[in-house]
Parts: sequence; C-alpha cells; structure tokens
Amino acid sequence: MRVVQITDPHVTATGTLRADAIDTGQRFKAALDHCRTLDPAPDLVLLTGDLANDARADEYAAVAAIIDALPADMPPMALLPGNHDDRAALCRLAENWRFAPDYNATDFVQTAIDPGGGLPVVLMLDSLVDGATEGRLCARRLVWVGERLTHAANRPVIIAMHHPPFVPTIMPGQPACEGTDALAALLARHGGLIGSLSGHLHRPMAATFCGASSWVGPSTAYRLPLAQTTDDLQRAAGERVCYAVHDWSPQTGLRSAEIVV
Ligand SMILES: [Fe+2]
Ligand SMILES: [Fe+2]
Repeated sequence: MRVVQITDPHVTATGTLRADAIDTGQRFKAALDHCRTLDPAPDLVLLTGDLANDARADEYAAVAAIIDALPADMPPMALLPGNHDDRAALCRLAENWRFAPDYNATDFVQTAIDPGGGLPVVLMLDSLVDGATEGRLCARRLVWVGERLTHAANRPVIIAMHHPPFVPTIMPGQPACEGTDALAALLARHGGLIGSLSGHLHRPMAATFCGASSWVGPSTAYRLPLAQTTDDLQRAAGERVCYAVHDWSPQTGLRSAEIVV
C-alpha cells in the first residue's frame, strides 16, 4: 500500500503570493502532478491540513480550481483540517470525494478510510481549535476514534492529524497537541497502530508515538526556519517543492520518505 502525503500547501487567492514571493498554489499543483508519476502509483493521497493560508473563500476557490483540473487517473484523496482551515469549506471541497468527511455526524472533519483486503485503516483526525494555532483532540473527537478503532479490530491502523502527537526538541516553544495521551491510550488498547502522519511544522521530522513511527511531512509551500520572519519566508521561495511517501506491507511495516519535486 502506497500513501502519498501532501501537507501545508497554504494556498493563497489566485494571482497572489505568500509573503509577496511564494506561489503556493503552483507549488501545491506541482506536488499533486508529481505524485501521479510515482511507480508504483499511490493508492491514496492524504492532504494533512493548512490547505488555505487564511481560510478565505477566494483561497478555497483557488484550491478547488487546482483539484478540479486534476485528470481522472488521480488516486483517491482524503483531507483533514489544519489550524489555517475552515471546516465547512473543506467539506464543500470534498463533498463528492470517495473519502468524504463524516462531518454531519460529528461536527468535526474526520474520515475513516478502509481500503479492505487486510490493508491498514487510515483514521484522518480533526485537531483544529477555532481561532488557535495549537491543536486539540477533545472528548467528542476521541469518542469517534474509539468507535472506529473498535470497528477496525485486528486491523493495522494509521493515524493522520495536522498537529504532531509529539513535541519536537528542535523547535522549542511548540505547544503539545491536547488529548494525545488519551489518543495513545485508545491506540494501545487497540494494539494495531503502525504509524502516525502529521504536518504543521513545515519540515520533515520523525519520532515515535505509542510505540510506532510518527512522521511530520514537509510543507509544499515553504520549509520553516527555526525563527520565522517575512525575510525567512522570502528566502524559502526558491526551495524545491517537497511531499512525502509512505509504503506499507505486512513484511516491511511502514517506510516513509521525503520526495523532492
Ligand atoms: Fe502550515
Ligand atoms: Fe498548521
């Protein structure tokens, strides 16, 4: 099973640039186009949050224009919200997707992806707190996770969430995502976690969470320096577009890599 993870595109309105320098829409499109050339082809493409830069309608219109123009052979996609996103706008975007969010049932943009055939079940979680940068998995969201884990008994499970479930040592001051201890307890009870996939930090990182691989994917838009200023962002405009690929088989487990376009 091959999963592509494209994260933190921070798309701005058509005709505008992030920090007056970065064409984030073009960079998002470059990652989407490139992943279709992979061999073997991806089974699934996960968009792990911060699709828009400021959750504005004209930014989601730009995202929709990019996605609507993808060819019919694009692998199935699923999304979850980041702290820069708007839940209702994301749901409109994914309304007709094969893996549309379970939004009306929960008020949160969460999706359970079951490819069948003994392959891993992917749980896309909503760690968005309205108006805040930091993330949270509240009790209601964790009830949904518990139900899906019960349903996925004896199956391997991958968790995807925008905010990483660990605090990186290299970026001091990053707050922990609330609720990850309770999430870890649910996952430990299930026993089948093979990996967690996140974004938000705009640079690839690896750790362990609940005894399994925990990966942070690189932003397609720009790699965050450890300090963040407009100058830093403008310097990042010349960097290559990056995304991540995660391959899983029962024999090898989960193997993750950064792809540079
Ligand atoms: Fe981001
Ligand atoms: Fe973020």
